Amino acid sequence: MEAGKRAEGGGEAAAAGPVFTLQEVAKRNCSREAWLVIHGRVYDVTRFLEEHPGGEEVLLEQAGKDATESFEDVGHSTDAREMLKQYYIGEVHPHDRKKEGSKDQNVTSSGQASFWSTWLIPIFGALVIGLMYRYYMLEGRSS
Ligand code: HEM
Repeated sequence: MEAGKRAEGGGEAAAAGPVFTLQEVAKRNCSREAWLVIHGRVYDVTRFLEEHPGGEEVLLEQAGKDATESFEDVGHSTDAREMLKQYYIGEVHPHDRKKEGSKDQNVTSSGQASFWSTWLIPIFGALVIGLMYRYYMLEGRSS
């Protein structure tokens, strides 16, 4: 079993591997078999559980699930990202990948919000100040 896994892990991570549904991943949620999803890729972390510097519990908590957010929240190093390759076993089925898309939508909507606050509000403020300045200057000259 382990030798088999090692052979798969050693394979080219860049090439698209076997495809798994989130349902299949969800079954591997214990210390005997722990899989997780990070950025649409499936990783078998069973033999990594004891080695994980952040502890076994956090991995088991995420096992069977999409761990992208928790993985990114920790701010893992480039070394940690490199290590992912060793545990890569396949891709998430395209039908189960909608989460990443909805995140993009959030980015766009917050992008629009920041457009308003970074440009229109300061421009409007500058216009008001300009008008007030003009008004007071004219007042000063007429009196
Ligand atoms: C296969 C996936 C993962 C790999 C290869 C991995 C690898 C590592 C490595 C190498 C470190 C040492 C610090 C660093 O180099 O960044 C680390 C720390 C840590 N990891 Fe992971 N990790 C994985 C998944 C996760 C997940 C899903 C969580 C969920 C919360 C997690 C939580 C943590 C925490 C809390 C630390 C300790 C950070 C610290 O002490 O500052 N890791 N991990």
